[in-house]
Amino acid sequence: MPALVLLGAQWGDEGKGKATDLLGGSVDYVVRYQGGNNAGHTVVVGDQKYALHLLPSGILSPGCTPVIGNGVVVDPAVLLSELSGLADRGVDTSKLLISGNAHLITPYHTTLDKVSERFLGKRKIGTTGRGIGPAYADKINRVGIRVQDLFDESILRQKVEAALDNKNQVLAKLYNRRAIAVDQVVEELLGYADPLSGYVADTTLLLNNAIDQGQVVLFEGGQGTLLDVDHGTYPFVTSSNPTAGGACTGTGVGPTKISRVIGILKAYTTRVGAGPFPTELLDEDGEKLRTIGGERGVTTGRDRRCGWFDAVIARYATRVNGLTDFFLTKLDVLTGWERIPVCVAYEIDGKRVEELPYSQTDFHHAKPIYETLPGWSEDITKAKTFDELPKNAQKYVQALEEMSGAPISAIGVGPGRDETIQINSFL
Ligand code: GDP
Ligand code: IMO
Ligand code: MG
Repeated sequence: MPALVLLGAQWGDEGKGKATDLLGGSVDYVVRYQGGNNAGHTVVVGDQKYALHLLPSGILSPGCTPVIGNGVVVDPAVLLSELSGLADRGVDTSKLLISGNAHLITPYHTTLDKVSERFLGKRKIGTTGRGIGPAYADKINRVGIRVQDLFDESILRQKVEAALDNKNQVLAKLYNRRAIAVDQVVEELLGYADPLSGYVADTTLLLNNAIDQGQVVLFEGGQGTLLDVDHGTYPFVTSSNPTAGGACTGTGVGPTKISRVIGILKAYTTRVGAGPFPTELLDEDGEKLRTIGGERGVTTGRDRRCGWFDAVIARYATRVNGLTDFFLTKLDVLTGWERIPVCVAYEIDGKRVEELPYSQTDFHHAKPIYETLPGWSEDITKAKTFDELPKNAQKYVQALEEMSGAPISAIGVGPGRDETIQINSFL
């Protein structure tokens, strides 16, 4: 029975929101499995544009139940404001379900994220400042606060005390900040209990039952493969597992139930924040990609770093995620270049390397080896089938498919739902 994972194959912002929304009309559940409101997913429906951070992109499809899985870190203030923002625009948000085991991002996590980045100075990660790393650190350290704790004041207080015991020492002595009062945090968190109580559910049981009954479940990743804390460009990563395995741990659905893993792949490459990026362009071409592609962060408003397509990364994404398909996005952005370079391998210390090096030092030294493909100038945004694409655009897609190790089953030619060429069905 179909349970699909849809995830970022590069460094995030590949167009996951659009792809999820596109499938939203044909699936029963859309489930976020990791990350938090560090994500920024833009969805364009007709003339309406939505920016989602924490809510699954399926929330915009009336028949679909959106779920926040146990692997997500939830900032309750952001969640409530995102819900009310959508409700104000007439979106029905009443079906949302939230795992009681998901961890909370509290104001002290956000504070710690910001002060620790400042403390790192030149070595900073360039986080989104949303408290993601500190919240996951508390989860792993077993001093996290979970959604279910909101409903037991005595346990909540004990847990907040345990968490702040150590943090207040760090805040005061290391970062020269004021200590945070337990009462203040407990009071704020208790205020979220009522508004959230109707959404909390045993999502693991529910999702497993749904799959067993033949319903279609779509797991929507935030961030991307190269931002994965295990498989990404550590330490320049996020603090969760956007890769396919994260869909299992982040929802309590076993790997044998997952039938398809779709990698969302931009026709060029972008990255936000610090860290290595072999095909980055610091010239006019980079600026042109940024301008035509609208490459500015949905969450932080930062300019995205831009570069040519990197097939080494795409192959790596195929491998570590077990990808069955790619959804190639933003092909339209490349219209107008006479020739388009594509990175096919790296040169590291004078040697040609075909696979992503596991050593951070080697990756930092990787120089792209380019093959240059002929471009096209015709407008492709109205193309509905592969055959309607100009010959050189077809060749570009075919070349990427050969280099990347999985079939390209859909192509994005514009931000709108219908600006998509579907080659193979995902369901
Ligand atoms: P996500 O984080 O992976 O959901 O991606 P973002 O929403 O952060 O960034 C992708 C941007 O590209 C958004 O502004 C989308 O509306 C836009 N987009 C998605 N697919 C396409 C496409 O095929 N063509 C164009 N031109 N824009 C697209
Ligand atoms: P979506 O889901 C792009 C990056 C940050 C930083 C690093 C760590 O829209 O693709 P964090 O706040 O997670 O601790 O920051 O990860 N980052 C993203 N980059 N798209 C995202 O999400 C990102 N979420 C985090 O810029 O480099
Ligand atoms: Mg994004």
